[in-house]
Amino acid sequence: MNEVIGADHEFNDKDFVAGWADRFVPTPERLELFNVILSELKSHIPPNGCVVELGTGPGYLANHLLHAMPIIQYYGVDFSRPMLDIARQRLNQHSTRVGYIQANIVQESWWTGIPMPANAIVSTWALHDLGSEENIALVYKNCAQVLQHGGILLNGDFIKPDK
Ligand SMILES: C[S@@+](CC[C@H](N)C(=O)[O-])C[C@H]1O[C@@H](n2cnc3c(N)ncnc32)[C@H](O)[C@@H]1O
Repeated sequence: MNEVIGADHEFNDKDFVAGWADRFVPTPERLELFNVILSELKSHIPPNGCVVELGTGPGYLANHLLHAMPIIQYYGVDFSRPMLDIARQRLNQHSTRVGYIQANIVQESWWTGIPMPANAIVSTWALHDLGSEENIALVYKNCAQVLQHGGILLNGDFIKPDK
């Protein structure tokens, strides 16, 4: 992890990260997004499936999914140690079903340590930070390697219209 891309700098600053987590406690609108992801997971993966989250942040989506799907295995990937520390605290009660991976999803084999193939990969508000379309394409390509045949990738993120 030696090249700064996207918001790498800020997300490695403990105070910035604590402030971010406080500012973005899920709103009803964001919970709607989480529920769309939850509903897709429930329809498409087995109850004990393996769910990987890219850019897990403070663990808000993870907490929602782990509560509603009581036997999934969850792996949270993030390059920010302070974010993973906050997520670990939030998800403490689910610790036997949760794994944390500190990795840059653009530069590293972030899937090392995840039992493959995974049933689903999810992400919210993270992939727009990857710095370039090439990086995003690389991440999608790697997701295809990590997922089982027929697995799903659910990305709830911002879209910037062309004009
Ligand atoms: C805007 S926050 C969103 C956090 C969380 N997904 C949510 O919706 O609450 C983006 C997260 O993605 C992580 N992130 C951004 N780029 C990353 C990268 N290249 N590799 C790993 N994590 C990354 C950041 O550290 C941060 O935790």
